[in-house]
Amino acid sequence: MSTLKKVVFPVAGLGTRFLPATKAVAKEMLAIVDKPLIQYAAEEAEKAGFETLIFVVGRTKNSIIDHFDKAYELETELAMRNKDALLKIVKDVVPKNVNCIFVRQSEALGLGHAVLCAESAVGNEPFAVILPDDLICNDGKNCMQQMVEVFNQHGGSIIGTQTVAIEESGKYGMVAGPKVADRVSMVDEIIEKPQPAEAPSDQAVVGRYILTPAIFDRLKTTERGAGGEIQLTDGIAALRKSEEVFAYSFEGTRYDCGSKIGYLQATVELALQHRELADEFRQYLKQLEI
Ligand code: G1P
Repeated sequence: MSTLKKVVFPVAGLGTRFLPATKAVAKEMLAIVDKPLIQYAAEEAEKAGFETLIFVVGRTKNSIIDHFDKAYELETELAMRNKDALLKIVKDVVPKNVNCIFVRQSEALGLGHAVLCAESAVGNEPFAVILPDDLICNDGKNCMQQMVEVFNQHGGSIIGTQTVAIEESGKYGMVAGPKVADRVSMVDEIIEKPQPAEAPSDQAVVGRYILTPAIFDRLKTTERGAGGEIQLTDGIAALRKSEEVFAYSFEGTRYDCGSKIGYLQATVELALQHRELADEFRQYLKQLEI
């Protein structure tokens, strides 16, 4: 049985790449077809057995708190009108066995700082981190389920990775190290957003992590790094000096929903798989003259 029960969603970022859409709406509330990005992330965690969802929010992210709260008026209205299917959709946003905690990150000091804000909610136990911008779709086990299995087998900390074109290295944490099992490597090097010439390999960190609580002490002494922010990557680089950190090349398709093109790709591909929309949408795309 996994000891992993808590998952952190750092969702305090400003979402400047989607302005003006994200002026008043949290970028994690942008929907892919009919579900906000944050809910895809929460469902992935819940399916992987996590029971406590810790959201590290900024001042402008109240829509995320509302999304995971009970919607009394809406539920009462839907019940009165006998809209049972819709009522179920609304109620299922937070499954019964799941508990939500909201923590404020009052300064935008970076991903490492956001994770550190969750320390008292996490306590002294291993935990997961999911970046909802990275939407990962699978037919079989979801990305977090795969990573929990790797954690149960190898222990230590696990980072989700993917091969990228080396020219893209400046957008990611990049890792390198020897292979230890199928899809699993040691992390000997990890660097945040290196230029292609400085990248240690073509293996990029994608927004899924399982971390031991020792990361918190490392983050407390992590200086500002790339972009002037306290980087989780730099905390992990310090962690791997005293504990094993593994890279896991997950199975699945990842959409970078923090970029407009990735967001559009996810929208088109998930619409083509959507129960109610797929056929109509496919017909529509076919007749487009492109
Ligand atoms: C963050 C991390 C980076 C990682 C990326 C994955 O960067 O700092 O190491 O590769 O997420 O999406 P961001 O995209 O927030 O700049």
